[in-house]
Amino acid sequence: MGKTYQIIDHKYEVIVIGAGGAGLRATLGMAESGLKTACITKVFPTRSHTVAAQGGISAALGNMSEDHWEWHMYDTVKGADWLGDQDAIEYMCREAVPSIIELEHYGMPFSRTEDGKIYQRPFGGHMRNFGEAPVQRACAAADRTGHAMLHTLYQQALKYNAEFYIEYFALDLIISTDGICEGVVAWNLDDGTIHVFRAHLIVLATGGYGRSYFSCTSAHTCTGDGNAMIARAGLPLQDLEFVQFHPTGIYGSGCLITEGARGEGGYLTNSEGERFMERYAPTARDLASRDIVSRSMTMEIRDKRGVGPESDHIFLHLEHLGAEVLNNRLPGITESAKIFAGIDCTKEPIPVIPTVHYNMGGIPTNYMTEVLKPNPGNPDEVASGLMAVGECSAASVHGANRLGTNSLLDLVVFGRAAGIQAKKLVKPGEPLRPYRKGCTDVALDRLDRLRNANGSTKTSELRLSMQRAMQNNAAVFRTSEVLTEGIKNIDEVWRGLADIQLSDRSMIWNSDLVESLELENLMINAKITMYSAEARKESRGAHAHEDFPDRNDKDWMKHTLGWINENGEVKIGYRPVHTHTLTNEVDYIEPKERIY
Ligand code: FUM
Repeated sequence: MGKTYQIIDHKYEVIVIGAGGAGLRATLGMAESGLKTACITKVFPTRSHTVAAQGGISAALGNMSEDHWEWHMYDTVKGADWLGDQDAIEYMCREAVPSIIELEHYGMPFSRTEDGKIYQRPFGGHMRNFGEAPVQRACAAADRTGHAMLHTLYQQALKYNAEFYIEYFALDLIISTDGICEGVVAWNLDDGTIHVFRAHLIVLATGGYGRSYFSCTSAHTCTGDGNAMIARAGLPLQDLEFVQFHPTGIYGSGCLITEGARGEGGYLTNSEGERFMERYAPTARDLASRDIVSRSMTMEIRDKRGVGPESDHIFLHLEHLGAEVLNNRLPGITESAKIFAGIDCTKEPIPVIPTVHYNMGGIPTNYMTEVLKPNPGNPDEVASGLMAVGECSAASVHGANRLGTNSLLDLVVFGRAAGIQAKKLVKPGEPLRPYRKGCTDVALDRLDRLRNANGSTKTSELRLSMQRAMQNNAAVFRTSEVLTEGIKNIDEVWRGLADIQLSDRSMIWNSDLVESLELENLMINAKITMYSAEARKESRGAHAHEDFPDRNDKDWMKHTLGWINENGEVKIGYRPVHTHTLTNEVDYIEPKERIY
């Protein structure tokens, strides 16, 4: 099997897989520095999931009031519950300012203040003076910031002649026997052809795996493809137990209502009409970090103070903001509330519920985006030829919980860093290693196996079982019992992969085959998530373990690493959190209690 396809071979200096914010920023930087660059993407670039990002991108510009990148760094370390690597966090917060100015110069249509500066709004966990009071740090293009960013970056990448392979599905990495990444095998969904893309550097920018859960704000394309390729290459994934629940997904549909809505003055109430966040986070209230707001909402619902006939959700009030603010600052969510909840939010509250939104974990990298190859003897060792940026990566700037708007920032800062590093690593014109016969076998055997799958379970049925196991057993609150059951359930779903049934054998626009490949990718992420969560006996950030309710820095201030083999056996290991900063301009921020 796998050898009957005609292979179309392409040679580049760098290949980026994924055309969301991180992939496009990396592509642009590499093309701009003169490297022969291609970007492979399974959807049209401006349809990538970054388009759904709403509220803003953080940078201490200080346009609304005094702000400093050191305050931003402190908030990010605290938000991450001290699981972030402080060298990478320093890099991100310091580079935020020039990265945003650069976006502005690229033509990104930010909202403006009266005097023409980039408008900035408050967001959860963004504070002035090392945690004192909220600050306006989220640079916004109304509530369509990701949309504006994606269009800006795509246009810039085209300007520098980056080449795009659109609606190509990346099947697997090509790794040499000496462990060097040499390229990627991809399937052109439109005409069914198979392509080998070879380059000195492969950059994974494939996004998160929100679709392993039943209810999420993520696009259907968020299937953890890059993570799975890394896992199949024998490398570990880091900190997957840290899954962020956004406090305000629309009840029933999961569609995102930006935290910027609370930034503009929106607030949450329970069935008694109480602004309950005042009890849980007296200073930041509705603008505490997401893990804390999501847990508080869940506790209100558990304590029978949820709203609606089933008392199973919470109200988000925006009515008092008035139609003018809503139309100017929050037009997108005003429309979403109407379409997905049937609500006129100028008159009634929006029903919301914590909804899976983001994966803090992913492919471990150093702060210059090179993929780490964990080696206790040499913790800085990197996997040759491989970089990862954006949600699929873990630099790790988000640690155990990401602050809102640090996601778009991560995309831009680390996409840009990948370009800077690629320029140092790749010498233009240097010849590639020769084409290796058989380099596509692993990828094409997998494709063939699925294409000819003749079992009795539909891909969509198995996907639903996986999503239910994740939703029920790896949720906002976890216990040892629930996680042990989760492992049993997810193992059973994994065994179901052997019984998949495909009705369509075509190679052209075979969405059944795409979804089956994606399901295998999702399953790898889901398994490692469940096992990593079961192994972590403490509570930290988004991992709230009711049997171990406290953070335990002595035993658990370490990154989880999860490997999986082809039989689905998961192995868990750990690597130390970096307890150093990048420069001596700032000191390491010592762990302390996290109060908002
Ligand atoms: O709430 C939001 O607008 C989402 C932003 C983010 O996840 O960074």
